[in-house]
Formats: sequence, C-alpha cells, structure tokens
Amino acid sequence: MTAKIIDGVAIARQVRVGIAARAAMLKSHDVLPALTMIVVGDNRASAIYVRNKVRACGEVGIKSDVIRLTADETEESLLSRIRLLNEDPGVHGILVQLPLPPHISVRRVLGTIAMSKDVDGFHLYNVGGLVIGETVFPPCTPYGVHKILEHEGIDLEGKNVTVVGMSNIVGKPLALMLMQREATVAICHAKTRDLAQYTILADILVVAAGQPKLIVAPMVRTGAIVIDVGINFLPGGKLTGDVDFEGVRRKASRITPVPGGVGPMTVTMLLENTVAAAERATGFRPAAESLFPV
Ligand code: GUN
Repeated sequence: MTAKIIDGVAIARQVRVGIAARAAMLKSHDVLPALTMIVVGDNRASAIYVRNKVRACGEVGIKSDVIRLTADETEESLLSRIRLLNEDPGVHGILVQLPLPPHISVRRVLGTIAMSKDVDGFHLYNVGGLVIGETVFPPCTPYGVHKILEHEGIDLEGKNVTVVGMSNIVGKPLALMLMQREATVAICHAKTRDLAQYTILADILVVAAGQPKLIVAPMVRTGAIVIDVGINFLPGGKLTGDVDFEGVRRKASRITPVPGGVGPMTVTMLLENTVAAAERATGFRPAAESLFPV
C-alpha cells in the first residue's frame, strides 16, 4: 500500500478562501479584523512562525502588528502591554508567541489575555471549555488537525485514535476534541512503555512528540491514517516531522508530510479564530458561541 499524501497547503488554501470572504464582509462594515502578536527575546523558530503568521494575515485581509521585545522585558511590563491591548477596540486577537524567557510566567501571561481575544486558545477558560464543549477559541494546532480529518471526510465515531505526545498545546487538547467526536482515544508520551503496542492499534495515529523518526513502519497498522504534527530542525536546518515518512507511507492509507501538512493548517486556524473574534466583538456572531460544541 502507498499512502495518499494529504496536502495541507491545498486544504489551507481552500479554508482561507472562506476566511478571506468573512474578513471582506467585515471590512464592508468598516471593521478591519486585527491581530497583535508579541514576541519576547530572540528565538529562531518563533521568528519563522511569526513571519508566516504575518504573511498569512495579509493574504486574507487581517491587519497584523508585531510587538518585538527584548529578552530583558519584565513580566510586569509585558502584562501592562497586554492589558492595554485587552482594552483596545481596534485589536480583536492577541497572541504572545511562546516560548518566553524563563523569568516570565507563561501562566500569568496567558491568564492576562482577555478571553474574548485569546485567539491561540491558551487561556484556562478556553482550555477547560474543551472538557465540556464550551471553548470559544479552540487551540490552533489541534483545531487544524481536526479540520484536516473533517476535510478528508474521516468519520471519527468509534475509531481508535492514538495521540503520541501530551503537551498542553497539542496532545491534551486534541485528545479532548477527538473524544467529543466519539473516538476511542489513547494518549502516549515520553514515559509510555512499549509505545508500539498503542500505535499499532490506531486507525488514526497523530504524532506530536518532537522527536524525528519516532514512528517507523512496523509501529503502524496497515491502512492507518497518519498525521504528523512534529516540527524538528535537523542539523543543517532541514525541517522534518516525527514520522519516518518514506517508510510509513508504504504502510499507511493517508499521511501528512512535513512540511506541507499540519503546519499551514495551524496558521489557518489562527486566522479563523481572529476573524471569529472580530465577528463576535462587532455583533456579527454571538459573543459566547462555542466553535467546538459537544
Ligand atoms: N509556540 C509554538 N507554537 C505556538 C503557538 O501555537 N502559539 C504560540 N503563541 N506560541 C507558540
């Protein structure tokens, strides 16, 4: 078997057409959807991600601003900046790029962003909302993975899904989302003994562990759908995922590549959340509506 390669770029392009149309509708009512991003310190990966987000915003008609701060920015000063943005009616979405320097509490920073502008979906309200289906902004990467599965017409009900990786921003929220769609979800992580006994059961295998070639063909069930969320920079700068793509594509039925799989969808869902925030702030959408209801 040779897997169909899921084209995340093409899916993202299609979803962005709809987002651009909504942004244009808002603009025709004198509302310019706007996202402000804050970057603290010098991080090579952050610089690349933020550059991609700025470009994507421009392509769909979202105004973006980047506030770049030096690594010695104090926590209090950063929180004050966020509070000002919370009050600014011209800003619909606020994103603080992670990681932050160690002297700044991520929890305090994320908790300070107004819930109504938390387009990353990292505020405790949004995180907790995933448990009961009241999330206003689903976190972008798991939301993107879910959108890919939806776009591919994959019914999740009763499917065995194994999620490898239990980060707060990918593995855990994704597991909750898939459970809401009535999948049977197993979550594996760095301490899981005999990872293969879980991965081999998966109809759908999602890998977000941050380890190149963690998943090799013998660990994958024939015909499985494999979604690779990994972003790893090899020595020399080449970008690669967590899955041995060449080996696994001969066993899976569908697989996402890296780059060109989940990455473009993560940015797309940030655009989706930002336009939704602008629609809510201006009465074009109910303020408390969940984007990911049970
Ligand atoms: N750093 C890595 N991924 C993300 C993300 O999705 N959002 C933010 N804010 N920072 C990140």
